[in-house]
Amino acid sequence: MANSRLHSHIGTFRQMELLVTVYDTGSINKAAEKLHLTQPTISMQLKKMADAIGMPLYNKVGRKLVFTDAGLILVQSAREILDSFSRLDMKLADLRGFKSGTLKISVVTTSKYFIPHLLGPFCKRYPNVDIQLKIGNREQIIERLRSSLDDFCVFSHAPQNMDICTLDFLPNPLVAIASEQHPLASQEKITLAELEKYPFIMREQGSGTRNLIENFMKEHKISLNARMTIDSNEAIKHSVAEDLGISILSKHTLAFDEIAGIKHLEVEGMPIQCRWQLVYPSNKRLSVIAEAFLSYLNQGEGLDSLKARIGDMS
Ligand code: PGA
Repeated sequence: MANSRLHSHIGTFRQMELLVTVYDTGSINKAAEKLHLTQPTISMQLKKMADAIGMPLYNKVGRKLVFTDAGLILVQSAREILDSFSRLDMKLADLRGFKSGTLKISVVTTSKYFIPHLLGPFCKRYPNVDIQLKIGNREQIIERLRSSLDDFCVFSHAPQNMDICTLDFLPNPLVAIASEQHPLASQEKITLAELEKYPFIMREQGSGTRNLIENFMKEHKISLNARMTIDSNEAIKHSVAEDLGISILSKHTLAFDEIAGIKHLEVEGMPIQCRWQLVYPSNKRLSVIAEAFLSYLNQGEGLDSLKARIGDMS
């Protein structure tokens, strides 16, 4: 069959855009809102697509859309086709002498403290580049990486057992903190075992910070007395300042807006040392903008200005 007729048994470019938006938003209603279209328009286009391939794309279970195998394959291919078009658009813009397009980055919550300062000089150098920055906990960002939704993801230790490329770019020390009123605050040398005696405030399940703390404590046979779970670094800092417990957080969370009443604890064997990594799927075809960002990081230019702002994190 001639390529020009492919759309008659797969779907048009526009239908692919609609399909991917419905999949990403999880509902036709939300996709309609996002695309400023009516619900029936979207439903009709998706029906045409389903008719063209001769299989349903999804089933409705209650109010939920559950994609069929055919629907999922189509979403994945549609994403590749749309990505390829956007790469083409960027390459043409590059040939015309200016880099333009969107750089999509997803980062774990803890890195939101420094990522904007890394992006700042890059955006100044390429003023026609738009940035799409998503923030979530480790588990959520791994999910995005798996679906290859972004140009890059940022973690403090790359996920294991995935076919990925990584660029290690910055230290990420995790430090113990307590309220200035806390008994440990006035102690000069603190053993790891002493942390067991006090209520501990932990990040939520799925958090990379929590993962790192749990692995480190397991390795040192320490059982923390986790009494409170909070899914926000900010709220943890305020709770520590209020002396609700001690905690361990990335030093980056404390770098810019130190909250009054918090003391870093000098604990033997700490900080927990890890590093920030830029990650992308090995089979990802990088866009012109993504290539530019990678070489900007590799040349260390953005990092120099970042380090000048946040100081020595090692
Ligand atoms: P988190 O991730 O913000 O999910 O805790 C931080 C990390 O990966 O170190």
